[in-house]
Amino acid sequence: MTLIEAAPGLSDVSVAETTIGDVRGDEGLYHYNRYPATDLARSSSFERVWFLFVHGRLPDPAELDTFVERIRTDRVVPEDLVALARTIGSTPGDHRPLVDLRTVLSAAAQYTGMRPLWDCDEDTRRDDGIRLCAMVPTLLGEVHRAAHGLDPVVPREDLDTPAHWLHAVTGEVAGPDETRAIEQYLISTVEHGFNASTFAARVIASTGADLPSAICGAIGAFSGPLHGGAPDRALDALDAIAARGGPAMTVADAGDVARRWARDELDAGRRLMGFGHAVYRTRDPRSELLREVATRLGGRTAELAVEVERAVVEVLAEARPDRPRYANVEFYAGVVMDRCGLPREMFTPTFAVSRVVGWTANVLEQARDRHIIRPRATYVGPPMDPPV
Ligand code: ACO
Repeated sequence: MTLIEAAPGLSDVSVAETTIGDVRGDEGLYHYNRYPATDLARSSSFERVWFLFVHGRLPDPAELDTFVERIRTDRVVPEDLVALARTIGSTPGDHRPLVDLRTVLSAAAQYTGMRPLWDCDEDTRRDDGIRLCAMVPTLLGEVHRAAHGLDPVVPREDLDTPAHWLHAVTGEVAGPDETRAIEQYLISTVEHGFNASTFAARVIASTGADLPSAICGAIGAFSGPLHGGAPDRALDALDAIAARGGPAMTVADAGDVARRWARDELDAGRRLMGFGHAVYRTRDPRSELLREVATRLGGRTAELAVEVERAVVEVLAEARPDRPRYANVEFYAGVVMDRCGLPREMFTPTFAVSRVVGWTANVLEQARDRHIIRPRATYVGPPMDPPV
């Protein structure tokens, strides 16, 4: 068999057919099953988009009501699993909520009776998928609250997912502007092609393992800073620029300060978090949407971010005129989440609250194809010793 040489990172390889969505990097567009994702974020509710990922079509009003009711029931987690989440969250050590979630979800198959995908029919897989996704915000909220010595939060039956998420973390019901901002963020980040976490989930699903295993693998891939782990670092960068400019720095000065900061970072060989993308060769439509959301919410950080974005994009273009880089989804995500009262450590977990819906759709699609994903590698080590 002749092996095909793929580009590093497999960037030039298509490994599956999908109807879930597509990212058109050269055009700066992405869609969910034909619907432009940023249009959905501007006009839909999170649950309506979630239904699209479960059923491959948008719901009518009655179907949406039934789906919303179901999510509100499914987000109530078995007591034993809540207790486990709180034990893990309160264990002494350096807590990372996604790592804690990964640990809790490892136990979820046992607590909830989720069986290997290979052994389940389509309806069971779909039910398990909805339930697991609905449990994720509740469990993340509990590991976070336990880590900070805060009381458990009883999920409220009258809240939709974005409001439930803010309530699960802070214990407060957020205002409508903050809730809608988080909802738009969640909708815009449900799915984004064969990124590292989605691919990891699909590889695991292709073995016929259970759904929680596939989601745990995805979370592991996602927790890395080159993938989902950058929004807090992007906000740290804004803080560093603000600190460098000092308390007297005006928003108008921020561009110059950011230019100097960005050049120094590049000279030191560091990456500018919240910029660049593996697929987009033009602006990331998610950062365009989130700039709009951040600006609508207002505040000094949002104003500063607009100036910093412009300056950093200029510096990156100076450094590589052949390969300009733009703000990615993470750059304004941190600004929006901070403004909505989420603590920095919960930024990447917020991403996971929506992305788990996309991972699950991919896992279920992969489970319908009964081939294991099993590529090969080209051996480049020393020649093999002759067999004895
Ligand atoms: N700052 C500085 N240099 C960069 C940046 C950046 N933000 N992005 C890319 N580069 C450089 C790389 O160091 C590399 O240089 P080299 O060829 O000299 O080694 C080169 O540009 C590679 O560029 P690309 O091919 O455009 O990017 P790649 O596909 O390798 O990486 C990635 C994409 C990982 C997102 C990268 O742009 C990056 O590290 N950005 C910062 C981290 C970040 O914001 N992550 C969140 C991404 S969004 C998401 O996953 C949800």
